[in-house]
Amino acid sequence: EKGGYEHYMLKEIHEQPQALRQALSGRVDEVAGEVSIEHSLSAEYLNSLDEIQFVAAGTSYHAGVFASRLFESLADVRVTTHVASEYEFTGGRDPWRTLTIAVTQSGETADTLSAIRAAKSGGAKTLAVTNTVGSTVTRETDDTILIQAGPEIGVAATKTFVSQVATLTMLAVQFGRTRNALGRSEARDLLENVRGLPGAIQRVLDREDTIATQAVEYADSEAFFFIGRHLGHAVALEAALKLKEISYDHAEGFAAGELKHGPLALVTDEATVLSVLTEGARPEETVHNVKEVDSRRANTIGVTSQGNFENVLDAAFEIPSLGRMEPLVANVYFQLFAYHVADHKGRPIDKPRNLAKSVTVQ
Ligand code: M6R
Repeated sequence: EKGGYEHYMLKEIHEQPQALRQALSGRVDEVAGEVSIEHSLSAEYLNSLDEIQFVAAGTSYHAGVFASRLFESLADVRVTTHVASEYEFTGGRDPWRTLTIAVTQSGETADTLSAIRAAKSGGAKTLAVTNTVGSTVTRETDDTILIQAGPEIGVAATKTFVSQVATLTMLAVQFGRTRNALGRSEARDLLENVRGLPGAIQRVLDREDTIATQAVEYADSEAFFFIGRHLGHAVALEAALKLKEISYDHAEGFAAGELKHGPLALVTDEATVLSVLTEGARPEETVHNVKEVDSRRANTIGVTSQGNFENVLDAAFEIPSLGRMEPLVANVYFQLFAYHVADHKGRPIDKPRNLAKSVTVQ
């Protein structure tokens, strides 16, 4: 059932190219620069929108953070992202002309459902982006878009994260085109990058041995810090969550620029700092932060796409060029890094202590 893999998590990491092909299937026309995703939101409604809100928890929240940055620039609309359990305080008083999008793999997360109910009662239209046909969220929202990733058994979300982001990226392009905020050629370029995801991710998966070696080499660090900018920031948050939940090591992810505002005090020669140095993540700025931690003798690992930062890193991993989708490819490196650190330590990877796949209590 695990298809020859030692854990479901590893199987699901390797299923990402296939999961993405399913998510993209029939939805992308990169030659025309158009996306067709079925939903009932009319062009008139999309043009009248004032705000898009994402509500989600955990990994799905990180997918929301990634997507929010794209929606903002592609669809020219105000976007806010909310940790579902905080929505009651942060969701605003008057969600009229607001579309609230719940991002949830299971469709059963209590915090996310309660945020959706609050949005709805305030007058917002609601949309679910989920992996689970017939789940509670699909019954409680006005409309549903399925990410079509296939079942995910491991508690750690992996293939569903990339499928959520790819689906939301397509939706951002569709909204951008409808709202006349996105030109055809930019849409084409981005869709070409989205189309390139399965192949680029496969190339990372094919080099798992290298990643495993690097993971084991740094596995005994006292703490792990993940840094990135813009789209790389969302990936840094996700990478830290993945590592901490399955390896039980201390891991934090933050915006690279925040390093000097506090976390730097924790950076010693026992720490490892992993950075997202890819396109869509302002690598030339983040590399300054890498130099800062290097001068505190921390171990530095970077995922790069142009290969020009290798000289400042203790370990580098190069991924194929893929424009704004590169941080998602870098994320696969971080998934495998987390997996191999945890495996090296003999952790129960598919069922980490204290965690459940679906959190149905508030
Ligand atoms: O089913 P959901 O996407 O709503 O679940 C939300 C979180 O509980 C979930 O993403 C959790 O953070 C992951 N399992 C962590 O890997």
